[in-house]
Amino acid sequence: MEKELRLRPIGIIRSPYKEPKGTPVQPGFAKKERGEVILDEAYTEALDDIEGFDRIWLVFWVHRARPWRPKVVPYRDVVERGLFATRSPSRPNPIGLSAVRLVSRERNRLVVEGLDIIDGTPLLDIKPYIPRADAFPDARSGWFDKTKNAREVADDRFYLSETVRLSRDEVVLRLGLHGCIENTARHVHRRLAEELIQEKEPNPAAEGVIELLGEFLQATDFRALRAADEDLAGQKEVSVRIYRTQDGVRWEKL
Ligand SMILES: C[S@@+](CC[C@H](N)C(=O)[O-])C[C@H]1O[C@@H](n2cnc3c(N)ncnc32)[C@H](O)[C@@H]1O
Repeated sequence: MEKELRLRPIGIIRSPYKEPKGTPVQPGFAKKERGEVILDEAYTEALDDIEGFDRIWLVFWVHRARPWRPKVVPYRDVVERGLFATRSPSRPNPIGLSAVRLVSRERNRLVVEGLDIIDGTPLLDIKPYIPRADAFPDARSGWFDKTKNAREVADDRFYLSETVRLSRDEVVLRLGLHGCIENTARHVHRRLAEELIQEKEPNPAAEGVIELLGEFLQATDFRALRAADEDLAGQKEVSVRIYRTQDGVRWEKL
């Protein structure tokens, strides 16, 4: 089996929702707000004939999801469920799948309605939604059929507001919310570590991020860093990418 696969985004999703918190939990619970799907120019021709479909599947990379864990409390329930029996955005491969309404197309741009996706999300694929192939209205829906939790918009359980991207080799932090680079990195490191302690099972994905941030915190002279660049002192909304290379942990301002 392949150990690693490479994916290349084919475009970007523009959405009225800027943060996961407050975003509808599924297209079926979304209102009429519109967004846009913008494909790279190279794929414009591949959109031909899409106009005939009322709905399209968007396949996307849920880029701001937290590391995955095997059990989660889904938005529409109040008890833990096995991850793969849920539509949680925190998954080993954080791939999202949403059937949105296609309003119009102009060249490489699609106007869509019913997004449960935040602004700036990388798009991986588009497929037409075909009721005869995709809809099985009488199919059983496990716990979903029984739950009485009617939550329609997300809270912050599957992401951290200070993180723009989170994986075991790379963390992008948004400064200015919790102060300087040091405070922000410490805050995210502590939150993830506290959660890990409470988990019953090992969580290698979270351990990887904690290790990366731990090494960064240990190896960095924050006083010198703040003196050299006042953007990192916490007054501005800037993003910093912390990543692993063969020579150790590095960082850069974005
Ligand atoms: C429960 S997921 C369902 C996504 C998709 N319909 C699916 O089933 O795969 C939807 C939630 O993911 C969160 N979300 C959307 N886009 C995201 C992104 N790029 N990064 C992190 N979280 C995101 C929002 O909180 C939204 O309410």
